[in-house]
Amino acid sequence: MTQPRRRPPASKYTQDRQLPGAFEGETVTRRRFINGTAQATGAIAAAAFTLPALGFAIGPVFSQTPDTWQRVGPVSRFNSVEYAPEVITIEPGIGEAGYSIAYVRLHNAAIDGPLKDRYDHVIAISSRCVHVGCPVRWVPGARSFVCPCHGGVYDFRGIRTGGPPPRPLDRFYTMVREGQVLIGPRYSVNSELRRFSPRDPGEPLDGIGQFLYPARPSTAPAPPGAKS
Ligand code: FES
Repeated sequence: MTQPRRRPPASKYTQDRQLPGAFEGETVTRRRFINGTAQATGAIAAAAFTLPALGFAIGPVFSQTPDTWQRVGPVSRFNSVEYAPEVITIEPGIGEAGYSIAYVRLHNAAIDGPLKDRYDHVIAISSRCVHVGCPVRWVPGARSFVCPCHGGVYDFRGIRTGGPPPRPLDRFYTMVREGQVLIGPRYSVNSELRRFSPRDPGEPLDGIGQFLYPARPSTAPAPPGAKS
Protein backbone atom coordinates (compact mmCIF):
# COMPACT_ATOMS: atom_id res chain seq x y z
CA MET A 1 0.00 0.00 0.00
CA THR A 2 1.39 3.39 -0.97
CA GLN A 3 1.58 6.10 1.67
CA PRO A 4 0.06 9.52 0.74
CA ARG A 5 2.84 11.96 -0.13
CA ARG A 6 3.29 14.70 2.41
CA ARG A 7 4.00 18.22 1.21
CA PRO A 8 7.28 19.51 2.65
CA PRO A 9 6.73 22.28 5.25
CA ALA A 10 6.95 25.79 3.81
CA SER A 11 10.26 27.50 4.45
CA LYS A 12 10.23 30.39 6.92
CA TYR A 13 12.45 32.43 4.58
CA THR A 14 10.70 34.78 2.19
CA GLN A 15 13.30 34.12 -0.50
CA ASP A 16 12.58 30.37 -0.45
CA ARG A 17 8.88 31.12 -0.79
CA GLN A 18 9.66 33.28 -3.80
CA LEU A 19 7.82 36.29 -2.43
CA PRO A 20 8.32 39.46 -4.46
CA GLY A 21 11.03 41.75 -3.05
CA ALA A 22 12.36 39.02 -0.77
CA PHE A 23 15.82 39.31 0.76
CA GLU A 24 18.09 36.50 1.77
CA GLY A 25 17.63 35.54 5.40
CA GLU A 26 14.39 37.56 5.75
CA THR A 27 11.41 35.83 7.43
CA VAL A 28 8.85 38.66 7.20
CA THR A 29 8.33 40.82 4.14
CA ARG A 30 8.84 44.53 4.57
CA ARG A 31 5.25 45.18 3.51
CA ARG A 32 3.86 42.87 6.17
CA PHE A 33 6.24 44.30 8.77
CA ILE A 34 5.21 47.89 7.97
CA ASN A 35 1.51 46.95 7.94
CA GLY A 36 1.80 45.21 11.30
CA THR A 37 3.69 48.13 12.83
CA ALA A 38 1.09 50.63 11.56
CA GLN A 39 -1.79 48.54 12.93
CA ALA A 40 -0.13 48.14 16.32
CA THR A 41 0.53 51.89 16.50
CA GLY A 42 -3.09 52.59 15.58
CA ALA A 43 -4.36 50.19 18.24
CA ILE A 44 -2.17 51.81 20.90
CA ALA A 45 -3.35 55.29 19.87
CA ALA A 46 -7.02 54.21 19.94
CA ALA A 47 -6.58 52.62 23.37
CA ALA A 48 -4.97 55.82 24.66
CA PHE A 49 -8.17 57.69 23.79
CA THR A 50 -10.82 55.12 24.60
CA LEU A 51 -9.57 53.53 27.84
CA PRO A 52 -9.56 56.74 29.93
CA ALA A 53 -13.01 57.66 28.54
CA LEU A 54 -14.28 54.19 29.37
CA GLY A 55 -12.82 54.46 32.86
CA PHE A 56 -14.62 57.75 33.46
CA ALA A 57 -17.86 56.34 32.09
CA ILE A 58 -18.05 53.13 34.09
CA GLY A 59 -15.82 54.00 37.04
CA PRO A 60 -18.64 55.50 39.12
CA VAL A 61 -20.57 52.25 38.82
CA PHE A 62 -17.88 50.51 40.84
CA SER A 63 -17.08 53.31 43.24
CA GLN A 64 -18.06 52.66 46.81
CA THR A 65 -20.18 55.07 48.78
CA PRO A 66 -18.73 55.33 52.26
CA ASP A 67 -21.29 54.28 54.82
CA THR A 68 -19.15 54.76 57.88
CA TRP A 69 -20.29 57.11 60.59
CA GLN A 70 -18.18 60.17 61.32
CA ARG A 71 -18.13 62.01 64.62
CA VAL A 72 -18.53 65.78 64.26
CA GLY A 73 -18.73 66.90 67.88
CA PRO A 74 -20.85 66.93 71.04
CA VAL A 75 -24.56 67.50 70.58
CA SER A 76 -24.30 70.52 72.90
CA ARG A 77 -22.40 72.35 70.17
CA PHE A 78 -25.45 72.51 67.90
CA ASN A 79 -28.83 74.25 68.11
CA SER A 80 -32.11 74.11 66.21
CA VAL A 81 -32.16 77.60 64.69
CA GLU A 82 -28.74 77.95 63.08
CA TYR A 83 -26.53 75.72 60.96
CA ALA A 84 -22.95 74.85 61.85
CA PRO A 85 -20.68 73.95 58.90
CA GLU A 86 -18.80 70.72 59.54
CA VAL A 87 -16.05 69.23 57.39
CA ILE A 88 -16.71 65.58 56.63
CA THR A 89 -15.13 62.96 54.37
CA ILE A 90 -17.36 61.87 51.51
CA GLU A 91 -14.72 60.03 49.46
CA PRO A 92 -12.06 58.33 51.59
CA GLY A 93 -8.49 57.84 50.40
CA ILE A 94 -8.17 60.82 48.04
CA GLY A 95 -7.03 63.47 50.49
CA GLU A 96 -8.57 66.92 50.60
CA ALA A 97 -10.53 66.32 47.39
CA GLY A 98 -12.65 63.86 49.36
CA TYR A 99 -13.75 66.44 51.94
CA SER A 100 -17.05 68.27 51.89
CA ILE A 101 -19.13 70.42 54.17
CA ALA A 102 -22.29 69.31 55.92
CA TYR A 103 -24.50 71.98 57.47
CA VAL A 104 -25.63 70.63 60.82
CA ARG A 105 -28.38 71.68 63.25
CA LEU A 106 -30.75 70.04 65.69
CA HIS A 107 -34.28 68.98 64.73
CA ASN A 108 -36.76 71.85 65.08
CA ALA A 109 -40.29 70.51 65.61
CA ALA A 110 -41.87 73.85 64.69
CA ILE A 111 -40.21 73.73 61.27
CA ASP A 112 -39.44 70.08 60.63
CA GLY A 113 -42.60 68.58 62.14
CA PRO A 114 -42.59 65.46 64.33
CA LEU A 115 -39.48 63.29 64.48
CA LYS A 116 -39.46 60.62 61.76
CA ASP A 117 -37.16 58.20 63.53
CA ARG A 118 -33.91 58.00 65.48
CA TYR A 119 -31.96 59.40 62.52
CA ASP A 120 -33.90 62.64 62.62
CA HIS A 121 -32.73 64.22 65.90
CA VAL A 122 -30.00 66.07 64.03
CA ILE A 123 -30.37 67.51 60.52
CA ALA A 124 -27.26 67.42 58.32
CA ILE A 125 -27.59 69.01 54.89
CA SER A 126 -25.14 68.43 52.04
CA SER A 127 -23.41 71.50 50.62
CA ARG A 128 -23.40 70.04 47.10
CA CYS A 129 -25.92 71.84 44.91
CA VAL A 130 -28.25 69.35 43.22
CA HIS A 131 -28.21 71.28 39.96
CA VAL A 132 -24.68 70.45 38.77
CA GLY A 133 -22.82 70.12 42.06
CA CYS A 134 -21.36 73.52 42.99
CA PRO A 135 -20.89 74.12 46.72
CA VAL A 136 -23.78 76.02 48.29
CA ARG A 137 -23.34 78.34 51.25
CA TRP A 138 -25.64 78.94 54.19
CA VAL A 139 -26.44 82.66 54.37
CA PRO A 140 -27.78 83.36 57.89
CA GLY A 141 -29.18 86.81 57.02
CA ALA A 142 -31.30 85.36 54.21
CA ARG A 143 -32.10 82.13 56.10
CA SER A 144 -31.25 80.38 52.84
CA PHE A 145 -28.66 78.23 51.13
CA VAL A 146 -27.35 80.04 48.06
CA CYS A 147 -25.50 78.53 45.12
CA PRO A 148 -23.01 80.88 43.42
CA CYS A 149 -23.01 79.09 40.06
CA HIS A 150 -26.49 79.58 38.58
CA GLY A 151 -28.42 81.28 41.34
CA GLY A 152 -29.99 78.24 43.00
CA VAL A 153 -31.64 79.12 46.33
CA TYR A 154 -32.90 76.73 49.01
CA ASP A 155 -34.81 77.54 52.20
CA PHE A 156 -33.95 76.68 55.81
CA ARG A 157 -34.90 73.04 55.26
CA GLY A 158 -32.94 72.81 52.02
CA ILE A 159 -36.02 72.93 49.81
CA ARG A 160 -35.49 74.74 46.51
CA THR A 161 -37.09 78.17 46.38
CA GLY A 162 -35.42 79.56 43.26
CA GLY A 163 -33.14 78.79 40.33
CA PRO A 164 -32.61 75.59 38.34
CA PRO A 165 -32.01 72.86 41.00
CA PRO A 166 -34.52 70.03 40.43
CA ARG A 167 -34.95 68.85 44.02
CA PRO A 168 -34.06 69.79 47.63
CA LEU A 169 -30.49 69.55 48.89
CA ASP A 170 -29.36 66.07 49.84
CA ARG A 171 -28.99 65.11 53.49
CA PHE A 172 -26.95 62.76 55.62
CA TYR A 173 -28.22 60.26 58.15
CA THR A 174 -27.31 61.31 61.66
CA MET A 175 -27.18 59.66 65.06
CA VAL A 176 -26.52 60.81 68.58
CA ARG A 177 -24.41 58.32 70.49
CA GLU A 178 -22.91 58.94 73.91
CA GLY A 179 -23.54 62.66 73.52
CA GLN A 180 -21.72 62.83 70.18
CA VAL A 181 -23.25 63.64 66.81
CA LEU A 182 -22.41 61.10 64.12
CA ILE A 183 -22.92 61.68 60.41
CA GLY A 184 -23.62 58.71 58.18
CA PRO A 185 -24.56 57.97 54.56
CA ARG A 186 -25.96 60.58 52.20
CA TYR A 187 -29.53 60.30 50.95
CA SER A 188 -31.67 62.36 48.62
CA VAL A 189 -35.13 63.78 49.25
CA ASN A 190 -38.07 64.87 47.15
CA SER A 191 -39.85 68.16 47.74
CA GLU A 192 -41.87 66.54 50.55
CA LEU A 193 -38.57 65.51 52.18
CA ARG A 194 -39.26 61.82 51.68
CA ARG A 195 -36.01 59.86 51.70
CA PHE A 196 -34.58 58.14 48.65
CA SER A 197 -31.31 56.41 47.87
CA PRO A 198 -28.72 59.01 46.89
CA ARG A 199 -29.11 60.48 43.43
CA ASP A 200 -26.71 62.51 41.30
CA PRO A 201 -27.08 66.25 40.68
CA GLY A 202 -29.63 67.12 38.02
CA GLU A 203 -31.95 64.21 38.85
CA PRO A 204 -35.45 65.15 40.02
CA LEU A 205 -37.30 62.96 42.48
CA ASP A 206 -40.84 64.28 42.31
CA GLY A 207 -43.48 62.41 40.34
CA ILE A 208 -42.12 60.28 37.55
CA GLY A 209 -38.57 61.59 38.17
CA GLN A 210 -37.94 58.93 40.83
CA PHE A 211 -38.46 56.24 38.17
CA LEU A 212 -36.68 58.03 35.33
CA TYR A 213 -33.57 58.51 37.45
CA PRO A 214 -33.08 55.36 39.54
CA ALA A 215 -30.15 55.20 41.93
CA ARG A 216 -26.83 54.03 40.47
CA PRO A 217 -25.84 50.46 41.46
CA SER A 218 -22.99 51.77 43.64
CA THR A 219 -25.43 53.84 45.66
CA ALA A 220 -28.42 51.56 45.30
CA PRO A 221 -28.62 49.97 48.77
CA ALA A 222 -31.40 52.03 50.29
CA PRO A 223 -30.37 53.46 53.65
CA PRO A 224 -32.75 53.02 56.59
CA GLY A 225 -36.24 54.30 55.87
CA ALA A 226 -35.40 55.38 52.32
CA LYS A 227 -37.08 54.39 49.08
CA SER A 228 -34.71 53.02 46.47
S1 FES B 1 -24.86 74.32 40.38
FE1 FES B 1 -26.12 75.33 41.82
S2 FES B 1 -27.55 76.41 40.66
FE2 FES B 1 -26.31 75.44 39.20
